[in-house]
Amino acid sequence: MPEIKIPWWLPQVGTPEERSYLNQALDNNFVNEGPLSTKLETEIATLVGARYAVATTSCTTAIFLALKALGIGADDEVIVPDLTFIATANAVHLTGARPVLVDVEPATLNISLAAMQQAVTDRTKAIVPVHVTGRGAALTKILDFAAKHNLPVIEDAAEALFSKQGDKYLGTFGRAGCFSFAPNKTITTGQGGLIVTDDPELHIALRRLKDHGRPRRGTGGDDRHDTIGYNFKFTDLQAAVGLGQLTYWKQRIARMKKNYELYRAELAGLPGITVFPSQPEEIPQWTDIMVENRRDELETALARQGIDCRKYWFPLHQQLAYRLPDDNFPIANRLSPRCLWLPSAFTLTDADVHQVCVAIKKFFQA
Ligand SMILES: Cc1ncc(COP(=O)(O)O)c(C=O)c1O
Repeated sequence: MPEIKIPWWLPQVGTPEERSYLNQALDNNFVNEGPLSTKLETEIATLVGARYAVATTSCTTAIFLALKALGIGADDEVIVPDLTFIATANAVHLTGARPVLVDVEPATLNISLAAMQQAVTDRTKAIVPVHVTGRGAALTKILDFAAKHNLPVIEDAAEALFSKQGDKYLGTFGRAGCFSFAPNKTITTGQGGLIVTDDPELHIALRRLKDHGRPRRGTGGDDRHDTIGYNFKFTDLQAAVGLGQLTYWKQRIARMKKNYELYRAELAGLPGITVFPSQPEEIPQWTDIMVENRRDELETALARQGIDCRKYWFPLHQQLAYRLPDDNFPIANRLSPRCLWLPSAFTLTDADVHQVCVAIKKFFQA
C-alpha cells in the first residue's frame, strides 16, 4: 500500500504545554498518580459539568470499575450494544457478569430500545449504552426504561468527550460516564480513561477500587484496606500530557465538526452513500458513512491513493469471543459490512476532505 497521505486519524503530541507539564511532573519527582492527575480530573469534571472525575488506566478499566463499584459481578447480566468496540463487552466480562448483546438502531448505530426491552431479565443489573462516534444514544428513553427496571446506566462515552445532547455533556446522564484517552481520541495520554459521576458514594467506591481498597493515597505500609481493590491508578506523566492536550480541545473539536460538515455537504445526494447524522451539539469523533454497495472495494481504492479509512467493527456476536447466531441482530448484520469511517483527523485541511470526496465520487462514476 502507498504511503498514507490523508490519515484516518492522527494524534498530535509533543506540544509546548505538554512539555511544560511534563517538566513539572519530573521536577516534582512525583510521577505516580498525584497533583497533576487531580488537576486533570478537576479540569475535565468542570468542563463537562460533573461533580467528580476519577482517572484510570483506560476506558475499558473505567467501565469495569463503574460496574464493579455498583456491585455487579457473577450471575448478573449487563446489556450492551452488539455494534461497538469489543472493550464494552470485555469490561462487563471482567466483572464476572455476562454481557447481553442487543441490536442497534439503523439511523444512529446506537443501542436499540426495542431490542433492550426484549433482552431484560431478572438478572439484568445495568445497561451500558455506547455513544458511537460521538453520537448520543437515545438517553431520555434509555434512562426512562432503566428507571422503570431500577437499573443503573453506565455510559460508554469513550468516543464522546465534549459531545452533548441538548445542553448536557454525554457521559453525565447516567450513574457514571466513561471516557477514553487512547491515541485515536480527541485528548490522548497514550492510554488512559476517566469516569465521571455525581454520586458521592460511587465516587469513593471508585477511588477505593482503583487503589487497593484505600479511599485516599496511602503509604504502602500501615494503610487500612476496608475493601478489596486493585491497581488501576493513573500517573502524573500521563496527566501532564493530558493537561497539555486539553489546551487544544476547542480547536480540535471545531476541526472535527468542520470535517463532518464538509463531508456532509459534498457527499449529499451521492447515490448509495449515506452520511450518518450528527447534531450541532454533537462532536463527530470520526465521520461515518454507509456504503450500500462495494464498501470494501471503495476502501481499497481509497487506500491505493493514500486515503486511509477504517471499516466498522464486526458485530460482537460475530466475534469468536462472544459468538451467537445471527438471528437477533438484523441491523448490525446488515450495517456492519457497509459502514466506513472516513479520514477524520483534526489535522486535516478543507483540501484533504475535498480530495477524499472527489475520490469517492470518481470511484462510483468509474
Ligand atoms: C466505544 C468504545 N468503548 C470502549 C473503548 C475502550 O477504550 P480504551 O481503549 O481506552 O480502553 C473504546 C476504545 O476505543 C471504544 O471505542
